[in-house]
Amino acid sequence: MSELIESFRTRRAIVGVVGLGYVGLPLAATIAEAGFATIGFDTDASKIQSLRDHRSYIRHVPSERLASLVLAEAPSAGRAGFYPAGDYAELSRCDGILICVPTPLTENREPDLSYVVGTAGAVARHLRRGQLVVLESTTYPGTTDEVLRPILEAGGLRAGRDFHLAFSPEREDPNNGDFSTRTIPKLVGGVTPTCGEVAAALYGTVIDRIVPVSNASVAEAAKLLENIYRSVNIALVNELKVLFDRMGLNIWEVIDAAATKPFGFTPFFPGPGLGGHCIPIDPFYLTWRARQYELVTRFIELAGEINHAMPAYVIERLTDALNDRGKSLKGSRILILGVAYKRDLDDDRESPAFKLMELLGKKHAEFSYHDPYIPTLRPSRRYDFALRSVPLTDETLAAADAVLIATDHSAFDYDWVVRASRLVIDTRNATRGVHVGREKIVLA
Ligand SMILES: NC(=O)c1ccc[n+]([C@@H]2O[C@H](COP(=O)([O-])OP(=O)(O)OC[C@H]3O[C@@H](n4cnc5c(N)ncnc54)[C@H](O)[C@@H]3O)[C@@H](O)[C@H]2O)c1
Repeated sequence: MSELIESFRTRRAIVGVVGLGYVGLPLAATIAEAGFATIGFDTDASKIQSLRDHRSYIRHVPSERLASLVLAEAPSAGRAGFYPAGDYAELSRCDGILICVPTPLTENREPDLSYVVGTAGAVARHLRRGQLVVLESTTYPGTTDEVLRPILEAGGLRAGRDFHLAFSPEREDPNNGDFSTRTIPKLVGGVTPTCGEVAAALYGTVIDRIVPVSNASVAEAAKLLENIYRSVNIALVNELKVLFDRMGLNIWEVIDAAATKPFGFTPFFPGPGLGGHCIPIDPFYLTWRARQYELVTRFIELAGEINHAMPAYVIERLTDALNDRGKSLKGSRILILGVAYKRDLDDDRESPAFKLMELLGKKHAEFSYHDPYIPTLRPSRRYDFALRSVPLTDETLAAADAVLIATDHSAFDYDWVVRASRLVIDTRNATRGVHVGREKIVLA
């Protein structure tokens, strides 16, 4: 153990990152930048090829950053850099293996651990004495100990004795200018105290602040609490948005006013519904787990219910606004501005824009979209709209019966959008700075 910790301290260890997506790629880059020989693994061969060509597929991990890190061949210990590996056999050379694969929900909204289980099987085939394995994917408390551990131990090696196993949740907040992978404090919990210590030693060389917790389950639960806290608070302001609108109050102004209290209040903001890989999904990992303890997570369910109702509320506001102008939604042309789930991102996973499109389709509206970061809509598990982003011009804005702002990208010139449009449905208060043409704006 002390030898492994020493190899982390001296950067002589080789670190593997499995799953090079929104979490794994910036993590691998950060580890390589900290001076480690880093090997990346992904089942998507096109991502590996793209990285080898120094081409990033994630907007906030620029290709220039990769160009200075990517190595043409598998590194030996001590050679700082990042090698995108095509072959899982390289796993056996890694001293630390960090798993960042997806943890979605199944069709029945139950945890889908198939990616974690698949990765665990691959790691198990190459597991050797003295390695550290850490799961970073968000999941319910008990996963590392009860799902990952038996798969890794199936070959006879024991966690805590022959190899080390821990959970350390990823807290990536893409595009947050104030925090990066390196500066976000990292929770670390081992399946044994020694496992936790070894994992903390690796992260401690790369990340500014490590927060050790008693065990892996505490770290798993803490990550879920963080996301549930967001989901519940977003639901609260979404519910109040509907009420305040009926009362003739602007929810955004109310939140801004409340946020001037210097203690005891954290502002959360309403929107067209939840999006992204985390908030719409992770809370239900705990709901599912709670059932095994014969408990119902009512807060989580209620928050889910309210947040899920938001796209329909937005369409209701749009329908009313068109009606006030003597138009029906049926046959109207709606231009959706922004399909990324969050401002300035190129990530459209679970975006509420898709639900809006589905509802518009059901009401026989004609819809198109513009998003500078998402040129085409790729088919997902639920949706296949086969649309391309239309150019944002005076003509496209004027041709739309309504422009629906689903994502408040900062690249948009909202003064111009309002000026050139007939009606703007704003779900993000993106037009807060627009003074001319406010009669055309409906907050929703
Ligand atoms: N995106 C975020 O902002 C964020 C933040 C915190 C936590 N998380 C969590 O981190 C985990 C990963 O999320 P993400 O957003 O990076 O997902 P992602 O889909 O962007 O990336 C996952 C990558 O894993 C690859 N992959 C799938 N199965 C694999 C396997 N068996 N072996 C190797 N690679 C495999 C996929 O091809 C993909 O490139 C999830 O549990 C998520 O909940 C995400």
